[in-house]
Amino acid sequence: MRLGVLTSGGDCSGLNAAIRAVARQTAARGGELIGFEDAWRGVLERAWVPVTVEYCRGLLPRGGTVLGTSRITPYQEEGDLDLARAVRDELDLDGFVVIGGNGSLACAARLTTDGIPCIGIPKTIDNDIGLTEHSIGFDTAVHVAAAAIDRLHTTAEAHDRVLVVEVMGRHAGHVAVRAGLAGGATLTLVPERPFVLDDVIAAIERRHRAGRYATVVAVAEGALPAAGTWEIPEPEIDRFGHARLGGVGAALGAEIERRTGYETRVTVLGYVQRGGTPTAFDRVLATRLGLAAVDAAYDGAWGSMMALQADRIVRVSLAEATEAQATVPEELLDAAAAFFP
Ligand code: F6P
Repeated sequence: MRLGVLTSGGDCSGLNAAIRAVARQTAARGGELIGFEDAWRGVLERAWVPVTVEYCRGLLPRGGTVLGTSRITPYQEEGDLDLARAVRDELDLDGFVVIGGNGSLACAARLTTDGIPCIGIPKTIDNDIGLTEHSIGFDTAVHVAAAAIDRLHTTAEAHDRVLVVEVMGRHAGHVAVRAGLAGGATLTLVPERPFVLDDVIAAIERRHRAGRYATVVAVAEGALPAAGTWEIPEPEIDRFGHARLGGVGAALGAEIERRTGYETRVTVLGYVQRGGTPTAFDRVLATRLGLAAVDAAYDGAWGSMMALQADRIVRVSLAEATEAQATVPEELLDAAAAFFP
């Protein structure tokens, strides 16, 4: 079998570990693997490299993706889909292993329907892909954010300050909730539960009255105030139609300081959460998903996504997995809220 592999959408830690596992299993099953540069750009521009076991030496702990990534898909320009089919035929590929987030995997489902067979591997620090309990990169991001919150506590205490830390999480607050719980954030604000600014202010003031002058507020970039309670600036839209988030932390910090008079500082963790060495959990997950993806291709299970459910790797439908955003379960949201002052 000849397979193509690509990493698509925003990067995260663990992508190289997944590429390595796909290469290893393809070789073990007697197949050949071709890696496309910068996702579908590499297909459309015929930029590819043979991905052998040798090519993958040393990749397991490396952050980023050796193949590069982009948000380009064969649906953006007229004729791209035909070009992608032509490239597949030229290279005699049986199909593609797409390592992607929600958008890239929804695209892989559509491509499968349009005659370009794909298998999906879920990756995103946001962990918002359906039917899998974890996506590659999420655990690493939580570790980075929790470690940052630990550090912010000590400086907040030294200065008696409020520290707002904005973490990634576009539609779901998985990173904020887990890092907030692990790091002992005072308040955690997420897209799943729109917040009321007055309640946030009141909670911080209660805490001060009780003699706790340092407060850490963890806020997901996609957190929103409840309708009609407070307006924050609309985000810019990038050329792929994605809102460029980031800004709620700064707006919140300014408002907390203005209304309480307490010194407030804001830290935006941003891309630190997506870079660097993956945790052991992410390396193992990426390896298991990568091996399973190749087996699925050999079984002809095109249109499926490899998923983690109850610590087993299972095959689910790409279309179903990408239909709904996987939000934070109520029990975890309640756990984070249990520590509100
Ligand atoms: O989807 C993952 C994510 O990290 C989001 O949390 C964030 O909003 C987005 O990617 C930013 O992506 P980029 O700036 O690379 O387009």
